[in-house]
Amino acid sequence: MEAFYVVGPCRLSGNVRIHGAKNSVLPLLAASLLCRESCELTNCPDLSDVHTALAILQALGAPAQREKDRIVLSPWDGTVCEIPEELMRRMRSSIIFLGAILARAGEAALSLPGGCELGPRPVDLHLQAMRALGATVREDHGKIRCEAPGGLKGAQIVLAFPSVGATENALLAAATASGTTVLENAAREPEIEDLAGFLNACGACIRGAGESTIVVEGVKRLSGASYRVIPDRIEAATYLAAAAATGSAITLVDVIPRHLRPVLAVLQEAGCRFSGRGRVLSIEAPARLSRIHSVRTMPYPGFPTDAQAPVLAASTLARGTSIFVENIFEERYKHVGELLRMGASIRVDGRVAVVEGVERLSGARVQAADLRGGAGLLVAALAAQGETVLEGVCHLDRGYEHIEDALCALGAQVKRRVMEG
Ligand code: EPZ
Repeated sequence: MEAFYVVGPCRLSGNVRIHGAKNSVLPLLAASLLCRESCELTNCPDLSDVHTALAILQALGAPAQREKDRIVLSPWDGTVCEIPEELMRRMRSSIIFLGAILARAGEAALSLPGGCELGPRPVDLHLQAMRALGATVREDHGKIRCEAPGGLKGAQIVLAFPSVGATENALLAAATASGTTVLENAAREPEIEDLAGFLNACGACIRGAGESTIVVEGVKRLSGASYRVIPDRIEAATYLAAAAATGSAITLVDVIPRHLRPVLAVLQEAGCRFSGRGRVLSIEAPARLSRIHSVRTMPYPGFPTDAQAPVLAASTLARGTSIFVENIFEERYKHVGELLRMGASIRVDGRVAVVEGVERLSGARVQAADLRGGAGLLVAALAAQGETVLEGVCHLDRGYEHIEDALCALGAQVKRRVMEG
C-alpha cells in the first residue's frame, strides 16, 4: 500500500500543465468500438482507470496501443461482447461500454456495477435508454444482458435525471441506430460535447450536445478519427483548491476556463483573483480565504460534485462559516472524518456540511476512501502544519497522473512511499 508523505504548510508557485480529462477519455475509448477504421486519441492521461478501460478493450478483443499520451485503437470485430466481472468491479464506470457494445455487436453482457465508495450507483437510466432504443434488457444474478439482434431503432428518450453516463450510453447506442433519436434532459457536461465531437468526427450526426436536448440522426457506419481529449476540469479545480488553501499564486496551462466557471465563482467569493487568456489561467489566493457562503453541487453548468471535496478542504481554513450541499451522490463526505483528525471543524447533517473555518490544521495520518475525497485530504495536507501521511494513494492514481510530481514542481513537499507493514 502506498502513501503520500506531505510536509506543510507550503507556498506554491509556477506553472502546472493540465492533462486530458479522465471522464472524457473513458467514453471516447468506448466509442472507438463503434468505428470501422482505426482511431487515434491524443492528450490521454496515464491513469489506472484508463489502464482498466484498455484492459476491457483487450478482453473484448479490441486491440489498443498506447505510446505516451497517444492511444491508437484498431477496429473491433464485435465477436466478444461480455466484460469480465473482475474488470467491472475494478471500475464502476465500465457501464459506459454498454451502449457501444450493444450497438455494434447486437448484444452486450456485463455485471451490474453495484455500489461504490460514493454510495449506490444505479444504472436504471442507462437501461431505460437501451430499452427505448429497442433492446431487450435482462437483469439477473447481478448481470445485465442486453440484446438487439435486429439492430437499434431511434427513439424519443426522456431522462428522469441528467445522468452523465446514461447520456453517454444513449449517444453511443443511438449514433448508428436506424432513424432519429431525441434525448431530453440530457447531461450538459463538457465531456458530453467531447464525446459528440469525436463521434461526429467519425461521421455521426449529433446536434445539441452540451444542451438539454440532443438530436441524433443514426448513420450506417462510423469511420475512425484522430481526436484530442479536452483538458480535465476536475484536475484543474483540484490545483486551484490547492492554491486557494495555501495562499499561493500559480498558473494552469492547457485548461478551458469556461468549463470551470462555477468553481471560479466560488473561489472568487472566497477572495481569489483570476487572470489569463485562452487556455492559460492564473490564480492568486489571499493569505487567508474568506468564507464561502454556500456551495451546492449540481449537474453542469452547476458546481461539479467532483470538486466538492478539494474546495471544502480549502474552506476549512477560511475566515467564517462555509456551507456545502452535496446534491449528486449520497455518500460524498467520507473525507470529513479525516479532515476532523487534522483539526478542521465540520458538522455533517445528511447532504449538508457546515465548515467553521479554523486558524490552522495539523498534519496527521489520514486515509483516502475515494478519488476526490483523497484529493481533498491532499489539499488539506499541503496547508497543514507538519507532516501528513495520506494512505490510499491508489484512489488518487485513478484520476490524477503522478500528482505528487506536479505538486513538487510547484514547491510542495510530497513523497510517495510504500507503507511498512
Ligand atoms: C460521472 O459519473 C463521472 N464519472 C463522475 O466522476 C461524476 O461525479 C458524475 O458523472 C457526476 O458529474 C465518469 O464520467 C466516469 P451520473 P456517472 O450518472 O455518469 C444517479 C470522478 O470522481 N443515477 O451523472 O456515474 C446517480 O446515482 C467520478 O471522476 C441514477 O439514479 O454520474 C447519482 O446520484 C465520480 N440512475 C446521479 O445520478 C442512473 O442510471 C449522478 O450520476 C444513473 C445515475
